[in-house]
Amino acid sequence: MTDDRTITAANASRKVAKPSGGSRNRRQKTEDRQNAGAERPPTELSSVLRPLSSDRYAVFGNPVAHSKSPQIHAAFARACGENLYYEARPAPLDGFAEAVRQFILEGGKGANVTVPFKEEAFRLADELTSRARAAGAVNTLSFQDGRIFGDNTDGAGLTRDITENLAFSVADRRVLLIGAGGAARGVIGSLLALRPAALVIANRGVDKAKALAAAFAGRVPDSAVLPCGMGFADLAGATPFDLVINATSASLAGATLSLPAGIFAANSLACDLMYGKEETPFLAQARTGGAAQCADGLGMLVEQAAESFFVWRGRRPQAVVRAALLQQLRGV
Ligand code: ATR
Repeated sequence: MTDDRTITAANASRKVAKPSGGSRNRRQKTEDRQNAGAERPPTELSSVLRPLSSDRYAVFGNPVAHSKSPQIHAAFARACGENLYYEARPAPLDGFAEAVRQFILEGGKGANVTVPFKEEAFRLADELTSRARAAGAVNTLSFQDGRIFGDNTDGAGLTRDITENLAFSVADRRVLLIGAGGAARGVIGSLLALRPAALVIANRGVDKAKALAAAFAGRVPDSAVLPCGMGFADLAGATPFDLVINATSASLAGATLSLPAGIFAANSLACDLMYGKEETPFLAQARTGGAAQCADGLGMLVEQAAESFFVWRGRRPQAVVRAALLQQLRGV
């Protein structure tokens, strides 16, 4: 469809506009969504290709045709010897719940949910895990005995990528989370559970940062710190951070963040929840700002998928499988 220079792991079906021209970006996104409304599930072809005995899974989104999830879950299934079939299913903007119910009727066992349906999936679920409740959004649905179970694997995907793939220990380190929207909310609980020395949430709109920090105060039992919310300007003069995570959607418009100098500590890790063919604007900013290591959101995308796979199948694809898949997705 359009250029897919940068997309977010948490909102992996999001298409990105070109870096110049904000109004064109918004218009382009709207057009993408309208065009996606015309997408059709590949019913005839899929029913030919799908072994009848396979357990069925899907990702719902709008747009969703370019989602990498079918490729990821097919690779996981092959590696784990699991007999499942996973497809991308577009849902109309006003027809998500109906599309899910239809899938259940067709025998669907579970589904991933991406933009713009994660909050609706949260409301649709009969039961929620605590991490889904904390995130206020659901990206993983399981269907069992007529009930819909809602989970959220985004936070676990991010923290597994950071701690295992990037071998970065978060405990007792200073963490800066930039952004206070849905993507930020989805990862705070998992970050706090790793017991950082501090978690600062900084947002362009300071009130949203403060409200989000307050919403998580005392909510994560393992956490030793209270998150703190502030604006970008308040970061000036702050003790530098060991881990800086961009959870804003600024890269979608090719925008850099108005962050003060000096936020990256020596040996710091910068993570962007976005990824794309080129370096994201935030990671370029981080590299010149002194971050020692930079990572985009593709690792999180693979890890949140592995966590969903575990929720459904009780098996986690091995690290070597996930690493090979990541290389493949990067086109290395
Ligand atoms: P998502 O689901 O991707 O988190 P969202 O809930 O709309 O989307 O949140 C978008 C986040 O990106 C917000 O934190 C927003 O900041 P504001 O609350 O101040 O709007 C942030 N954001 C988007 N564009 C930005 C930009 N150009 N500079 C800084 N922050 C930006």
